[in-house]
Amino acid sequence: MTSIVANMHPSAKPEEVRAALEQLEAYVSQGCPGMPAPARASLSTVLGYTRQLEGDLSDLELLYNMTVEASTSLENELSMRYDAITSFLANTSHELRTPLNAVIGHSELVMEELADDDNHRHDQDLLRIRDAGKHLLALINGILDLSKIESGHVELCPEDIDVSALVRDCVANVRPLARVNQNQLDVNLSPAVGMVHGDPLRIRQCVLNLLSNACKFTKAGRIGVAVCRQTDSRGEWVVITVQDTGIGMTPEQLSRVFRPYAQADIRTSREYGGTGLGLAFTRSLCECMGAEVHATSELGTGSVFTMRLPPRLRARVS
Ligand SMILES: Nc1ncnc2c1ncn2[C@@H]1O[C@H](COP(=O)(O)OP(=O)(O)O)[C@@H](O)[C@H]1O
Ligand SMILES: [Mg+2]
Repeated sequence: MTSIVANMHPSAKPEEVRAALEQLEAYVSQGCPGMPAPARASLSTVLGYTRQLEGDLSDLELLYNMTVEASTSLENELSMRYDAITSFLANTSHELRTPLNAVIGHSELVMEELADDDNHRHDQDLLRIRDAGKHLLALINGILDLSKIESGHVELCPEDIDVSALVRDCVANVRPLARVNQNQLDVNLSPAVGMVHGDPLRIRQCVLNLLSNACKFTKAGRIGVAVCRQTDSRGEWVVITVQDTGIGMTPEQLSRVFRPYAQADIRTSREYGGTGLGLAFTRSLCECMGAEVHATSELGTGSVFTMRLPPRLRARVS
């Protein structure tokens, strides 16, 4: 009650309001000497309402306290569950990763041994085993990465980074991927970009996700990578743009592209593979670093993914 009254009447102290009410009540109980009858009736009505309001406010205060208490205990409960899920995933992923790596490794080994004997009869089956294993492994790694970020268990190690050098390095990494689909890779790094302060490993992961998508969803096309500095009303940014002339997306597909497991449609996921976790991971990572990632796209024409980094990224996950 005290805090509500104080909030509603910032200039009057609750005790002053209560004292004024009591004085008025005493005056009414004495029959309001000197006051005309209609005014007396109105005053008693107002006083009645005020007392009722005071009761309602007191109930509200009780309700407010109960809600705060419930939400705090819910928050604690959720945080405990998150921790349990994360440690469960960390343990399970280890248990799953080891045998999966064995499945992948052995299927390749058997394939090589049979090839030495010029036996290719089981190649299709062995390839299927290997690819299914690889897909499952990518899925497990993706789920773990995402759950780590979402439960705040990601560590950031910021340092001064030459963004152009970082992007140039990422581009060198994906050149073989671009070549597989006969894509041309054009790089435009503005020399004046300079440094940002952030975690190079995490920024690299994001850039590589965008680049590998561009290489994957573009065939015999062009992929443009640019880095520049921009200033807007919110301040200065280093902007990394990955543009492609690939399959593009409908507005509806684009609207859910950053959601976990979201792939354009069944045909796309069948044709291009993947887990649908890369962009969800990229967005979560950007959010926890204080960066941004956006996309525009047109079906059949291509897509543009833009990452915007403030000069000083967050050093700690909030
Ligand atoms: N450059 C792109 N061009 C067209 N579609 C894209 C592009 N990047 C992402 N997408 C769409 O967004 C989906 C999600 O991407 P992502 O999270 O990286 O998952 P994955 O690559 O494993 O499918 C992709 O399956 C695809 O449908
Ligand atoms: Mg991807």
